Amino acid sequence: MKKSNIIATIIFILLSIACIIAITTCSKAPTIQDGTWSGDGEGFKGKLSVEITTKDGKIVDAELTSIQDSDFAKEYAQQIVNQVVEKGTIKGVDAISSATYTTKGVLDAFKNAIDKASGKNDTPKVSYSDTETDIVVIGAGGAGLSAALEANADGMDVIILEKMPIAGGNTNYATGGLNASETSVQKKLGIEDSNEQYIQDTMIGGKNINDPVLVETMVENSSDTVDWLLEMGVDLTDVGKMAGSTNSRTHRPAGGAAVGSHLVQVLENQVKNRGIDIRYNNEVTGLIDQDGKVAGVIVETPEGNYKINSKAVIIATGGFGANPEIIVSYKPELEGFGTTNHSGATGDALEWIKVFDGDVVDMEQIQTHPTVIPEKNIMITEAVRGNGAIMINRDGKRFGSEMATRDVMSDAILKQKGKTAFLVFDQGVRDSLKAIEGYAKQGLLTVGKDLKELAEKLKIDAGEFEKSVKKYNDAVEKGLDEEFGRKASEMPRKIEIGPFYAVEVGPAVHHTMGGIKINADTEVLNKDGNVIPGLYAAGEVTGGVHGANRLGGNAVADITVFGKIAGDKASEYVEIVEAE
Ligand code: FAD
Ligand code: FUM
Repeated sequence: MKKSNIIATIIFILLSIACIIAITTCSKAPTIQDGTWSGDGEGFKGKLSVEITTKDGKIVDAELTSIQDSDFAKEYAQQIVNQVVEKGTIKGVDAISSATYTTKGVLDAFKNAIDKASGKNDTPKVSYSDTETDIVVIGAGGAGLSAALEANADGMDVIILEKMPIAGGNTNYATGGLNASETSVQKKLGIEDSNEQYIQDTMIGGKNINDPVLVETMVENSSDTVDWLLEMGVDLTDVGKMAGSTNSRTHRPAGGAAVGSHLVQVLENQVKNRGIDIRYNNEVTGLIDQDGKVAGVIVETPEGNYKINSKAVIIATGGFGANPEIIVSYKPELEGFGTTNHSGATGDALEWIKVFDGDVVDMEQIQTHPTVIPEKNIMITEAVRGNGAIMINRDGKRFGSEMATRDVMSDAILKQKGKTAFLVFDQGVRDSLKAIEGYAKQGLLTVGKDLKELAEKLKIDAGEFEKSVKKYNDAVEKGLDEEFGRKASEMPRKIEIGPFYAVEVGPAVHHTMGGIKINADTEVLNKDGNVIPGLYAAGEVTGGVHGANRLGGNAVADITVFGKIAGDKASEYVEIVEAE
């Protein structure tokens, strides 16, 4: 064959291969048909739906046809709809962290509608059947993810069951940070702190009714847990101060960004990368009792119920801050209060342990967070005060130390006119804490180019307001707050760089300090003080660590430290059972 013929033959073969690949690929790509399609997703308060119109493979119009979430969340849902229509596709449109459940639900609804437009009439549904494993972890918040990762590292087969469509629970919303002492990060930043001081602060904060052994366990493991999280890729390199902490020990991502959603993202990725079985929309409804030992769980899913037999179960279902019935039964004065909690924080596990005569502790100890935006129920992190903000009432005056613990600050606000107050800060504070950018983006801040303009917008006496800020700035300069006793270390900067900002805030239910009684090995105890074999619990579902009042930053320490311990101790138990 001539050389030119050989080249022509090779070109022909290559072109043929390219055509075959192109045809195969094209035939694989789903064709979006022109028309109008509806799709469903799960919002924060239940099902939501969209209707889309498609033309030439693009989404040319879309509408939210039903949504039960708050007006605030609806605004974000609408933003997602607008973005999709603008782009003609859901590609490159992400859920918005301030309304994660709702916006993820909207995106799921779009996917569902696109599936229908592509000829897939139903999104594939996973249906589970009865199975068995070494350890079941109930709840994919910070405690559950930590427990599962540790048990997996110990060689266990683990199944995580999460009743919501996404992981993270309340942990998704944690903002201010994670408390830990004697850490590598503090050392690098030249911050002096000690475990002894951390223990003392936590006991004082909790009015000394905390279980001291649990407090010591949390504190003494806090530094190692920070290193464990850092190794997995959690950024905890910024350290600030929160109320009730003598030293700066609240660890968070660089620049003071919110800690929780970042932590969940890293831990959930780890879970997925390690191939751990994590099941969303899987709600546990009870524990399996085998002669007084916990031997598995009963699970409810949209596709039906099933059971998992396991050698151990770790309960990490979080608190009951979104269950007004339980809240009011223990603390009637909280009737009608809003909550900062996600809707899944309903205290389900409190019922399950009754079968095993499981004990609870400190149930009436329910914390309100003082700086929550009324109606919207959005918490403004305590770190804003830690970084220098003050609180002003409708007379334009301060009314207490802004760094008093949450119980004290909440009571003080409720005594002011209108039962709310204004959190006030300047550009200097804003620049010190990235989390504030989120509030600004959500349009939550009232802005004044100077204090006078801010006072006018807040409809408070400008003269009194300016006097109060001046007095506070003098206190910062002297390092002495004669009026309210805010410590020098709690006044890091003056309020002097415009523009100036304010947010109206008041108390809302935030943390349930009480819960399932555990020992330092996270074993669940019964009413006689004996261990319930095979049952472990960690995180906000437990009681005793925080006593009568939790310090800001101590919950994320609690859930990661005890989550990790639960993973280890449940694994040890499984090994013993297997050896028997
Ligand atoms: P969660 O994170 O709530 O996880 C529990 C999971 O269990 C949830 O996903 C839930 O859906 C699931 N679940 C519940 N019942 C079932 C069931 N029957 N079957 C299956 N799954 C179930 N603390 C700090 O230390 N620092 C902070 O900066 C901070 N900021 C906060 C900000 C906000 C707005 C809120 C609400 C809390 C904040 N906290 C903070 C407190 C802290 O976030 C929580 O105490 C902590 O995240 C609880 O973690 P957890 O893993 O125990 O529970
Ligand atoms: O204000 C906050 O950032 C909340 C912290 C906490 O609950 O620990």
